[in-house]
Amino acid sequence: MESKKFYITTPIYYPSAKLHIGHTYCTVATDAMARYKRLCGYDVMFLTGTDEHGQKIEDKAKEAGVTPQQFVDNIVEGEHGVLDLWKLMNISNDRFIRTTDDYHVKSVQRIFKRMYDNGDIYKGKYVGKYCKPCESFWTESQLKDGRCPDCGGEVYEAEEEAYFFRASKYAQRVRDLLTGTDFLQPASRVNEMVNNFIDCEGGLQDLCVSRTSFKWGIPVDFDDKHVVYVWLDALFNYMTALGFENDRYHDLDKFWPADVHFVGKEIVRFHAIYWPAFLMSLDLPLPKHVYGHGWLLLDGGKMSKSKGNVVDPYILAERFGVDALRFFLLRTFPFGSDGNFSNELLINTINVDLANDLGNLVSRSAAMVEKYFGGTLPKTNAPESVDDELLAMAKALRGRYEAQMEKYQFQNALDDVFKVIARANKYIDETAPWVLAKDEGKRDRLAAVLYNLLETVRICAVLLTPFMPESAEKIFDQIGATACERTWESAAVFGALHDAVTVAKGAAIFPRIDAEKELAELEALHAAQNAGAGAVELEPFAAESVDFDTFCKSDFRAVKVKSCEAVKKSDKLLRFTLDDGTGTDRQILSGIHKFYEPEQLLGKTLLAIVNLPPRKMMGLESCGMLISAVHKENGEEKLHLVMLDDAIPAGAKMC
Ligand code: ME8
Repeated sequence: MESKKFYITTPIYYPSAKLHIGHTYCTVATDAMARYKRLCGYDVMFLTGTDEHGQKIEDKAKEAGVTPQQFVDNIVEGEHGVLDLWKLMNISNDRFIRTTDDYHVKSVQRIFKRMYDNGDIYKGKYVGKYCKPCESFWTESQLKDGRCPDCGGEVYEAEEEAYFFRASKYAQRVRDLLTGTDFLQPASRVNEMVNNFIDCEGGLQDLCVSRTSFKWGIPVDFDDKHVVYVWLDALFNYMTALGFENDRYHDLDKFWPADVHFVGKEIVRFHAIYWPAFLMSLDLPLPKHVYGHGWLLLDGGKMSKSKGNVVDPYILAERFGVDALRFFLLRTFPFGSDGNFSNELLINTINVDLANDLGNLVSRSAAMVEKYFGGTLPKTNAPESVDDELLAMAKALRGRYEAQMEKYQFQNALDDVFKVIARANKYIDETAPWVLAKDEGKRDRLAAVLYNLLETVRICAVLLTPFMPESAEKIFDQIGATACERTWESAAVFGALHDAVTVAKGAAIFPRIDAEKELAELEALHAAQNAGAGAVELEPFAAESVDFDTFCKSDFRAVKVKSCEAVKKSDKLLRFTLDDGTGTDRQILSGIHKFYEPEQLLGKTLLAIVNLPPRKMMGLESCGMLISAVHKENGEEKLHLVMLDDAIPAGAKMC
């Protein structure tokens, strides 16, 4: 019989700074998937690790006055480092790879040489635009508004002798892979990849895969002026960690190809285009799937510590519990899309789903068995039609859950579980065990009702195990489930819980949180963290004066936002249609998408200068400029549009 195996990976994270809740999100999702597959009887390999080379790390180490190796060692192995974080979050990875591990370094050198020998890597000269934080070279046509299309950062003109990978040779095969199979998921990510990187002007370009401008990388062993491009180094981790081109491990035959790589949407490009092309070059089997998950956002924007939310996973896990945090991340956000993180949402989810719905169901069920039967349920057989819906839902649950888990739709899988939990709570009200308990003649029926409740709890707890491993065990202990009643197989059977089960009511598994108090404390904690960090930084005041007449020529007017939308293909630009009081709409483009979502601005009264010469941006005309206040906070750029009182009519002149 073919043994069932499953190989799943997270991205290997950059240890350039402490990891945050976004990294935790992806790792927890991968962990839930790995645990689910183990529960189903698969032999699982779950790999995570760190991507330790590259210029960014070299720069950070220099800033900190340590060697790059010392720098990454501290972030990976030091207190509250990557390893500590995954231990805290109860991550069940089978292996952890660091790209500075000796075996990986040697493997990558061999891989590079093999690709050089087969002609897919050749020496040339690179002239292009380079983004330092992303370690990426871009062609002019790939830039967005002249900036890095990934991070929006500044790019620099750079030229160097370099090795290139013949990605262009694999363009058609990669295109077929993306458009003709379910390799890249969710499917909605396919078009963007194909349009932007393969069907774009000039087609898929060869990729620069070596650097000479810094040292912190894997040396090309036959030309040691060069270090291997960090993405080629990093992507092969998925195979070197199984023993590809090394003798450290021997699981390649067993686990390769990977079943799925979970990666954030911003690195889908590397995983869906270059990674398969590299593998094609070496004639190796391709991973079965790449899944590009969404981002956790704060207040609609990218995550950042200065936005008033504590996003340090250590603090959140400490205050709310590891399982509650794990659960929240996968229950609240659809895995394929972006989601807005907030402490309010976290506390609300814990209170509603865990303390109220699940926690109460478990504690009430166990408490009633204690109260009415001294803790041990007698064997009974007294069904009634009111049981039917609950039983039908509980019996169908495993199948429904499985269908969602197989699509990595964690939120939907949990939704199915919580529908059954809600149904069971309703069942308590419908059957009113406290009324049955008053009638000696209804002892059997009372026992049957309580059995149905325990059994529903048990099935739900089995399916919650991948998400909340420790809490699920506590639930099993409270309802007296034996080892064989905690299995995947047993979750398909209503009635698997043994007769004469004895409950052991314990402390509340998910205590209710006082939201107001907790939010105030988190805020105070956040303020304390930010205090003394040098908070606000202002733009230097102009040294030159402007003469009054020139100033008076500027025509500032109140304008009202009639519509606002993001400009396609631009990370930054918003397109405003404005009422400026003239009766004709005015169009202004503003590069402020990083700070506002269009819907936040509808109907607002803003300030614009309207007599600047019209300017074209991304092919669209902008007639004027919206006025904003800018400053820096803890080194981060801040921007607020100047908003006027809505009583001011459109077109009113500012003077
Ligand atoms: O890209 N929301 O490493 P990295 C959700 N070393 N997920 C987030 C997130 C957020 N706000 N922020 C980060 C690298 N992530 C490379 C990978 S793989 C061969 C090399 C998660 O430290 C998400 O999974 O920048 C994202 O893709 C990953 O962390 C990026 O981690």
